[in-house]
Order: sequence, then structure tokens, then C-alpha cells
Amino acid sequence: MQFNVAILPGDGVGPEVAAEGIKALKRIGEKFGHDFNLHYGDIGGASIDNHGEALTTETLKMCKKCNAVYLGAVGGPKWDDPLATVRPEDGLLALRKGLKLFANLRPVKVFPMLADHANLKPDVIKGVDFIFVRELTGGLYFGKPKKKWETSRGWKAVDTMAYSEKEIERIVRVGFELARTRKKKLISVDKANVLETSRLWRMVTTQVAADYPDIELEHQLVDACSMRIIQQPTAMDVLVTENTFGDILTDEASMLAGSMGMLPSASLAGVPKGESSRAFGMYEPIHGSAPRRAGLNMANPIATILSCAMMLRYSFGLPKEANVIETAVDLALEEGYRTYDIMGEGMKKVGTSQMGDQIAAKI
Ligand code: IPM
Ligand code: MN
Repeated sequence: MQFNVAILPGDGVGPEVAAEGIKALKRIGEKFGHDFNLHYGDIGGASIDNHGEALTTETLKMCKKCNAVYLGAVGGPKWDDPLATVRPEDGLLALRKGLKLFANLRPVKVFPMLADHANLKPDVIKGVDFIFVRELTGGLYFGKPKKKWETSRGWKAVDTMAYSEKEIERIVRVGFELARTRKKKLISVDKANVLETSRLWRMVTTQVAADYPDIELEHQLVDACSMRIIQQPTAMDVLVTENTFGDILTDEASMLAGSMGMLPSASLAGVPKGESSRAFGMYEPIHGSAPRRAGLNMANPIATILSCAMMLRYSFGLPKEANVIETAVDLALEEGYRTYDIMGEGMKKVGTSQMGDQIAAKI
């Protein structure tokens, strides 16, 4: 089969880790006889440097014409001036909004061979395997008004958390559909004891639950949830939540896996249904551009390579090929290959491209 993939390497370690994901993608193409046509574009700081804006209309158009978008990372100290009028992150947010990527899937998995590596007790995190469904185009990130202004008594600023019934419904449906393919348990995370948007969230989620009598729904307050994630993470399976809560909780949860360099993500424009469903999506590691590691062949490419597997599964309808990549990652870890962030005693320390080679060779 033929697929068009927009490649946006971005900033910092982005280009390095994206290159390793592309290695894996090309191996899959050779092995299974698929054609992946790659179309490169700029995003973030790279786009600011080359075009003066964090995302150009040309790049957005190019992405829309493709079957999926594959992204490295954006941001870096070079563009961090708080007074700057354009920021690399704006490019990512514009892409999410422009491509209507409302559903951000962030799986959290503890690899058995890395259970001793995390800061938490191995007994607590062994077997952790859950997934966040984070709403990605609403809430505080996009609500209006959003501004900063000077008054006679000093500066003021406002961000707005806004959600409509429709926005909530479509994201919680993603949660219910995923729960159906897993343990049939859905945790909806909100702050309904304080926030009006959360009370609406709870109301809509409870209504949608009527369509999913096979799924057990539990509402959790976000503060309690953040505690449960480190207290008893094996009790989690599918969690659905709004944009900002999801942003914070997923960074927290990444520490279960030992390193942010292990966690992939998918941002979808549709509701995935069943094994070989297809939705337009963007795929990226959850980590940032790690500017201090850039250009040193150090960064862990596993999150990006696993994001490639998610692309095969959710946008191309190729679950078998996705499994092959995931197994290749398992094998490389089992053979003891480790980048600096997951290095342990007696293991073989490798750089970004060597890790990518090892994984590609096992595909
Ligand atoms: C993420 C990142 C982004 C976010 C930033 C880079 C805008 O932290 O994908 O989690 O806040 O959504
Ligand atoms: Mn984040």
C-alpha cells in the first residue's frame, strides 16, 4: 500500500530521533511491501528561522494532503525570550488546531527490563500498562479571552477554560472506544468539585456512558488521580481528561516508565474503532527538544520509534506492522542496549543512531 507521511523534524533532538523513526518505517516498507512517501517540512524554531513563523500555511497544507504527520520536537533556548512575538510551541498548537487533532493518546507502559530503573519501587510499577486520552484542542490552551494587559494597578492576565458539550462528547467517546479494546474500565478525570467546565464534563460523560453499558465508568478528581497514579498505577487502564490536566498528568506518569524518552503519542482527528481503523493523526514522542542533548547522538529514540508504531496502527490500519516495531523495541532492550537516560549496570550504552540501528535490524 501507498502512504504519504509529512515529516516535521523540528528542533533540538527532534531531527535526530525522527531519523531513527524513519529508519524503522523504511524497514517496515521493505519487509511488508508498503510505499511510504516522505514529505519534509519545517515546524517550531526551525520554521521561525527559515520563514519567520512557527508554522507556515504551506506546511499546514502539505500536512493536510498527507495520511499522517510525524513530528520530532519543538522549542529551545534560542527562541525562549518571553517578549518574543512568535514561539516554537505556537507552531505545534496551530498544527493541532489546524489539523483538528482533538484526541491525544498517550500510552504509559513500564518495560519489565526497566522496572528497576525508575525512581519508584519496582513492586509498584511492574506491569503498568495504561493509556491517557487527553483532549487536545480545547480548554485553557485555546479558550478566549486569553490575554495580558497593563492596568493602573499593575499587570493582569487571563486564560479561559471553556468546553462545549460536543467537544466533551467526542473525546470521551474515544475513551469509551479504547476501553472496549482493553479492560473495559474508563476513568474520567476532572475537578468537578470546583470547576464549572468539569461539572459539564461529568454530566456529558455520564450521558455518553449509556451507549457503553459494557464499560465500567469511574469519575476521579484530578488531584486524587495524580496521587493514585504513583500510589497504585497498575489499577489504571484508560483515563480520559481535558487538555491541561492531561498535559500535567502525562508528564507525571512518564516517570513510571523511567524516562520521558520511552513514551510515544498519537494525536487523532477521529475516533478509532477496532483494530484496523484509520484516523488522520500526528505522531510524536511526549518529550521535548532536549536542547542540551542536541547534536550529541545521545537522545533516546524509542519514544519516537514507538510513535511510528502508533502511526501504523491508528492512521494506516496496519496493526501487524505496528506490533513488529514494538517487538523490535522489546528485543533491543532485552539484549541490553540502553541510551544514557535508561542506562543501568552491566548494560550496553549506545547513542541515538546505534539504538535506531539495533531496533531496525530486529524488524
Ligand atoms: C506536550 C507539550 C506541549 C503541550 C507544549 C510543547 C505546547 O508539553 O505535548 O505535552 O503543553 O501540550
Ligand atoms: Mn506536556
